[in-house]
Amino acid sequence: MIAPHGGRLVQRFASDEERDQLIAAAADMPRLMLNEREAADLDMIASGAMSPLEGFMVEDDYRSVCDRKRLAKGLAWPLPVTLALKDGDEPAGFEPGNRVALHLADGTLVGIIDIADVYKADKVHEAEKCLMTADEAHPGVQYLNTVGDHYVGGEVTVLARPEHKRFNRYRLDPKETRVLFKTKGWHTIVAFQTRNPIHRAHEYLTKCALEIVDALLIHPLVGETKSDDIPADVRMKCYETLLENYYADDRVALAVYPQAMRYAGPREAILHALIRKNYGITHIIIGRDHAGVGDYYGTYDAQSMFNEFEPGELGITPLNFEHAFWCKKSGAMASTKTGPEAGPEDRVFLSGTKVREMLAAGEYPPVEFTRPEVAEILVQHYASADKTEVNA
Ligand code: ADX
Repeated sequence: MIAPHGGRLVQRFASDEERDQLIAAAADMPRLMLNEREAADLDMIASGAMSPLEGFMVEDDYRSVCDRKRLAKGLAWPLPVTLALKDGDEPAGFEPGNRVALHLADGTLVGIIDIADVYKADKVHEAEKCLMTADEAHPGVQYLNTVGDHYVGGEVTVLARPEHKRFNRYRLDPKETRVLFKTKGWHTIVAFQTRNPIHRAHEYLTKCALEIVDALLIHPLVGETKSDDIPADVRMKCYETLLENYYADDRVALAVYPQAMRYAGPREAILHALIRKNYGITHIIIGRDHAGVGDYYGTYDAQSMFNEFEPGELGITPLNFEHAFWCKKSGAMASTKTGPEAGPEDRVFLSGTKVREMLAAGEYPPVEFTRPEVAEILVQHYASADKTEVNA
């Protein structure tokens, strides 16, 4: 089985013996409230999904990651995983050597951090390096503007996991996916990261990839996304329907990926890959504009960034795909690489905006673009008066 990043699967859950004692001690500690992204990161650090991270980044790692895409000791790591002070947090008590209690927005105590470092965030530099823009319209820049100017670094211990109301049967930690793959006898597994419903183009990528490995893990991101992305619960229904009707049962698994979206394009593609390796995955699909938003990244920039690393550094293998679409000339799915010479009029391809407009008008996208069962779920979602997602 593929080794976790850094060689060891980190576990940062309190042992049964220390939990009660830490919960009691936390009552007298300064408190820090986690936002949704930080809460998801904390849980992923504890489960080993973020191995080798044992906590939120200290300044040396933060700067090294921004400037070199590597942790201070040299291991590849593309994006900061930081914990920020927020407006209203009292800096008193937030000093190296102290312990701070970590709470969710609803007040639930979830963990503690042993503070190693409190440092000033260099947000413009971070944005320019990691998001490749400091444009206020970029959702990653907007996120940075919601948190304070200081980051707190140090190892974490998790006391309680967030209680989820949704997708519990699809919540598999790296330890569990590793057991699943072993039990199934799958040696090579390709992950499909997605934050969208699976349309025909995505289905094509997953099936092409599946032809050359043992199995496919559909691993949709269900952490925080932009408000105009399709909510995770609707997407999950689409994935279930597709798997039921169009995939081989014994070669495909569905599990959720609980991280918040960064919209960092190329660097996030590397993050998505390294974290999937921790789940025991050997290959990852990287298509057009992976983890991109708007026009900030070139179509294949994410694929190119993998070439900045020595092959052994990342460990996981990217499977690169060209832009895929339904080709009318060949009467099949194709890509710019595999289809015959054809003009735009020979391709069925709809932009995200166009699809949203059609669905909102109650129109079904063509079957060459979206399977009817998936279109049905999406049209119903757009037709329902209450499109708000239950957060859990
Ligand atoms: S992402 O933010 O998770 O990358 P999305 O769910 O749209 O967004 O994409 C999932 C994966 O499919 C990414 O690797 C993306 O590059 C790829 N992809 C999406 N649409 C296409 C397409 N038409 N052709 C090729 N690759 C695609």
